[in-house]
Amino acid sequence: MNMLGEFDAKVCGKEIHDGSNFQWRVARAPQGVLLPDDFSWVESPTPEPGPGEVLLKTHYLGLAPVMRMYMQGAVAAGETPLRVGDLIHGRGVAQIMKSRHSDWSEGDMVQGQIGWQTYKASAMTAAEKMFRVRHHGLPALYACKTLGMTGLSAHAGLFACGEPRAGDTLVLSGAAGGVGSIVSQLAANIAGCRVIGIAGGPEKCTLIRQQGCESAIDYKSDDLQQRLKDFCPDGIDCYFDNVGGETLAAVLEQLALKARIVLCGSISEYARAQPFGLNNYTRLRSKDARMQGFFVYNHLDRWETVMAELAGWIRDGQLCPRHDVTRGFQNMPKALARLYAGLNQGAAICDVRGEPEHWA
Ligand SMILES: NC(=O)c1ccc[n+]([C@@H]2O[C@H](COP(=O)([O-])OP(=O)(O)OC[C@H]3O[C@@H](n4cnc5c(N)ncnc54)[C@H](OP(=O)(O)O)[C@@H]3O)[C@@H](O)[C@H]2O)c1
Repeated sequence: MNMLGEFDAKVCGKEIHDGSNFQWRVARAPQGVLLPDDFSWVESPTPEPGPGEVLLKTHYLGLAPVMRMYMQGAVAAGETPLRVGDLIHGRGVAQIMKSRHSDWSEGDMVQGQIGWQTYKASAMTAAEKMFRVRHHGLPALYACKTLGMTGLSAHAGLFACGEPRAGDTLVLSGAAGGVGSIVSQLAANIAGCRVIGIAGGPEKCTLIRQQGCESAIDYKSDDLQQRLKDFCPDGIDCYFDNVGGETLAAVLEQLALKARIVLCGSISEYARAQPFGLNNYTRLRSKDARMQGFFVYNHLDRWETVMAELAGWIRDGQLCPRHDVTRGFQNMPKALARLYAGLNQGAAICDVRGEPEHWA
């Protein structure tokens, strides 16, 4: 049985129902690849909201690489590190079933920090970063990632940090993933860049050519350094980095004058026992180049503006969201493992209940 098949065996017989709250918790800190025994399944009574609280019913949960780091107890910005037995962090879309909170009503749709659970009693605190779902004429599922933190990450990283200009050569890693599939389209269709995407495997390379990339590099089988020279003979003006490691090191060898590198993520390093240790960062110096990190929670002040802008681009066809939907809350651990196995195409979402969207 392959590794992901073991996840199927683990969830055998697990089903959710409205009479209880179901949760996935940390069973042990992951080492190397994620395994089914890293997760534990807990059933408890559905919570009752106290004074000032609401009862949330979860409909969609987003999957993000950082969740593995939370489970390891690593200090990841924005959320508390987890210990064995803790509920796993996860942002998603939920509906308010009962309200004892003056600002929120029964039936409201919200997105925010729900955790890997099917119900939550929430005081809607600032720490939970809850936002009212504004449908913008689109399904509520979109609010889980594209019109959520993933979309904000793509927008802030590209425009606020990357400062792309029309005609720039922009290289992007993780190009077929959640953030990457948005960045590639915005860079090509809105900023007017020449986009070169990096992704794993021929199927993903075909996909990214359909979403704004003029050329695609398969980092698993191509000579990455040679391909960057072939496709970017005048150098790379902007690099949007989702993976770090050897890919970032290769890009540093091919920079144009005044290049900008945006450090969004470094998934190739998250499961390593030892840090990669970038040793050619001094290439920035000879090119008057800069490398800038960003963290999405530092850009929340622009939430409403960015969501309205992204929704407008979706409606006029300049941004075609790609969602990679796993059905069933019991399959959350497998859905997270799929990110590290490179099996998702687009933004990874779990459709927790599979109920039709009657609220859109
Ligand atoms: N700075 C921030 O505030 C912020 C916010 C959100 C996300 N992020 C980061 O942005 C990145 C993308 O996040 P996402 O949610 O959109 O995930 P994602 O790209 O949808 O999923 C992860 C993808 O990473 C690739 N990958 C997995 N292992 C890899 C490896 N060893 N080397 C190279 N690529 C690998 C896989 O694609 P392939 O098949 O192409 O390998 C996989 O599909 C992550 O690093 C994440 O941590 C940062």
